[in-house]
Amino acid sequence: MGTESIEDDEQLRRMKLEVALEVKSLRRIISAYLNYPEAAEEAVKRNERSFERLPPAHKALLCHLPSKFQKLRWCIPKNSFFIFEMLKMFEPPLDMSQDIDICEHELQSDVSDSHLLPGQRNLGPSELPSEDGRVPLLKTDGPNLGDVICRFPKEMRNEQSTETNAGSCGIGLEYKGDEGCPNNEATCSALGCTGNVMSSPPDWLDPSLQLHVPLVDVDKVRCIIRNIVRDWASEGQKERDQCYKPILEELQNLFPHRSKESPPTCLVPGAGLGRLALEISCLGFICQGNEFSYYMMICSSFILNHAQTAEEWTIYPWIHSNCNSLSDNDQLRPVAIPDIHPATAGTTEGFSMCGGDFVEVYSDPNQVGAWDAVVTCFFLDTAHNIVEYIDIISRILKDGGVWINLGPLLYHFADMYGQEDEMSVELSLEDVKKVALHYGFEFEQSSTIETTYTTNPRSMMQNQYHAAFWSMRKRMKNV
Ligand SMILES: C[S@@+](CC[C@H](N)C(=O)[O-])C[C@H]1O[C@@H](n2cnc3c(N)ncnc32)[C@H](O)[C@@H]1O
Repeated sequence: MGTESIEDDEQLRRMKLEVALEVKSLRRIISAYLNYPEAAEEAVKRNERSFERLPPAHKALLCHLPSKFQKLRWCIPKNSFFIFEMLKMFEPPLDMSQDIDICEHELQSDVSDSHLLPGQRNLGPSELPSEDGRVPLLKTDGPNLGDVICRFPKEMRNEQSTETNAGSCGIGLEYKGDEGCPNNEATCSALGCTGNVMSSPPDWLDPSLQLHVPLVDVDKVRCIIRNIVRDWASEGQKERDQCYKPILEELQNLFPHRSKESPPTCLVPGAGLGRLALEISCLGFICQGNEFSYYMMICSSFILNHAQTAEEWTIYPWIHSNCNSLSDNDQLRPVAIPDIHPATAGTTEGFSMCGGDFVEVYSDPNQVGAWDAVVTCFFLDTAHNIVEYIDIISRILKDGGVWINLGPLLYHFADMYGQEDEMSVELSLEDVKKVALHYGFEFEQSSTIETTYTTNPRSMMQNQYHAAFWSMRKRMKNV
């Protein structure tokens, strides 16, 4: 066999391993979503066990608690129903039926040596995709930006699911129609699946493919539920007014004369569930959100592409914490989502979400000078190396382009116990600003904004950030 063909075989083998790793990572995320009802039920059982241990006099005093537990239990399938509908609509970018039981040690050694696929960073074991749910970089060739997982509004799907399966349940998730509410004593039943209409699930949601995942993964699902409120519920309006409104007003100030024929372009790295990117698009920008977490992308894609009307779904986002509640009713309150209908919100043609790591996708040479504006909201501190983020932001902006940032510096890779080798460059705000000046930025304005992040507005705990807010302009060349 010639050297060339050995190299080809080796390349093919490595590609298969990488894909298997990505499938495994995605399966783990899907499993975390599917494990949600079981984990939530387990939490209620724990409450009940504690109650059972009370002395009779205390039990008598708190005799309403068993009913509260039943109400919590009633809410779980409601949240699960939303989650399952969301999963059914997700179109995995990988063949989920393939065998993932390839040698783990082979994967570990392969991803940490120097023979990487074109366009990919070396991933240390703790950076493996399965750890954090990130969307792998799927495509960097040609003029595309990574893999555009969903485009709006051109491909917005308005079709109603016609395939129905009345009276049966989806896998692992049970939904008991919409009768009753958690505050109605008579109807608190967790079990049974009667009369609800569900389309049949795709093969890759088969229970046999479900992995057992650690509880920390299910916690990420609960975080997503809180993020849904931030981005897509009326309850999140106050928080959106704190963080998104100043950004939108600044864009309005800095781009007062936007052309409809040739709208300015705006990139939103770390776009989360996509609301800010949608609002920027509605303001008259060709806006692209970039996000690397499948947890986020699965959910944003569902809301952006599949919501038929405003307030189509009801979730119970606050049931997972008994702490800092003013009342049980507060904890059990329903939240309707989405507060607006994305498909008719008035987006500008070209709105898209791009899955992949910001560093990998936007380091591509065809990104140089591509954007009129970059907006980072609660994103800068997600960096392993914040200098690299700023360098890339500077490179991808046009001369004279603007960078608007809002957020704290709560470095995500600081204090990674047990993962001390994880790179984390943690600069003060002063140093971040110095680095920005080095990369050719000039301040337009800088201030501090008080804001919460995914906070329950009725909680007794309201953690406030004194977030840095600035807009900077990339200096024109030869000026
Ligand atoms: C704190 S959240 C903020 C989300 C959104 N901007 C908001 O204000 O609600 C940070 C987001 O950045 C994403 N993220 C972190 N590192 C990223 C990277 N290297 N490339 C793309 N997205 C990233 C995370 O998955 C997460 O959704």
